[in-house]
Amino acid sequence: MSRPLSLNAWARAAAALAVAAAGVSAQAQSSTPVKVGLMLPSSGTFADLGKWTNNGFRLYVEEQGGKLGGRPVEYVVLDDESDPSKANENANRLVKRDKVDVLVGTIHSGVASTMAKVARETNTLLIVPNAGAGEITGAMCAPNVFRTSFSNWQPGYASGVLAAKKHKTAVTISWKYAAGDESVKGFREAFEKGGGKVLKDLNLPFPNVEFQPLLTELATIKPEAAYVFVAGAGQVKFVKDYAAAGLKTSIPLYGAFITEGTLAAQGEAASGLQTVLHYADGVKNPKNEKFIAAYTKAFGSAPNLFAVQGYDSAQLYDVGLKAVKGDTRKKAEMIKAMESAKIESPRGPLSFSKSHNPVQDFYVRVARGNQNVMTDTIVKGLNDPSPDCKP
Ligand code: BEZ
Repeated sequence: MSRPLSLNAWARAAAALAVAAAGVSAQAQSSTPVKVGLMLPSSGTFADLGKWTNNGFRLYVEEQGGKLGGRPVEYVVLDDESDPSKANENANRLVKRDKVDVLVGTIHSGVASTMAKVARETNTLLIVPNAGAGEITGAMCAPNVFRTSFSNWQPGYASGVLAAKKHKTAVTISWKYAAGDESVKGFREAFEKGGGKVLKDLNLPFPNVEFQPLLTELATIKPEAAYVFVAGAGQVKFVKDYAAAGLKTSIPLYGAFITEGTLAAQGEAASGLQTVLHYADGVKNPKNEKFIAAYTKAFGSAPNLFAVQGYDSAQLYDVGLKAVKGDTRKKAEMIKAMESAKIESPRGPLSFSKSHNPVQDFYVRVARGNQNVMTDTIVKGLNDPSPDCKP
């Protein structure tokens, strides 16, 4: 006859059961897909940027055999329409209804800021693959919020460093929302530090493309240079309007995104334009060579900055998942690994500041044919100091 178990034996049996249960659940985890909520625009002004980001993310996952951190990947895709008024509902739907493990998005700063708010409220991991709103890695920074792209200040600042080398006066033109305002602020800071003076900031609402009155005013002011922040479909029209107004030869145009991904559509109007970004055609490193070949094979066209940022978002998530062997419940460990990640990006080395914003090099590019050809590195390891981030 079996004797009743002693207290010690009960404790040992309970511990053994707990270990077995944990093992089973870890095993179940490894075959259960991680749910990736891709909240990107597939309509409107930024539709192409959303598509390129999506392509880049999926390319990295495919290269890992369809898995991240040993777990298959399931996508929940949502068109955010670059509409801030729908962002709260959209992000909450992905988190609360679809129960995604990670939110990835988006392009538009206003939409991404709301995603960051939802991510903070629900303690959901968020990886921002483009939108540069300063507050995301500034006043709203949080342990579970990462960005793989830039803060709007960064490309604006790097552009100002370049423009100040040749010009003493400038006028800025931008869409009136966080991205435009912050990009211009970064430009002004570096341009004026370099001895220049911004004479006037001109703007129009996002995504308005009636640039003519602003170009007329610019021509009247006659600065030595102009800096512009518009993006996506808007940049195609802007660059064409600028050339058609005869300004290309009289007032040199500076900008970050204005030729990215759109050279074929802009044609001769863009030829020779100098821009500053954290990726360029001709960036030389083995990762970039492989990336260009793989992307071109998969999608039938060469990649651009937005594809790189999508690719690196998947790389960053993979770093986190690998550190916990796919066990997404170990959030603190995942975050620790992601914070200290040193990512081999097609853009060059990529690491993260204390506020989880990229620290990266900025390149000068010149538009030749269908390429933004790298000619120089204008700022190395640029770090947004994010003084408002108090994690
Ligand atoms: C933004 O809204 O942050 C943004 C959109 C397109 C290109 C760059 C920045």
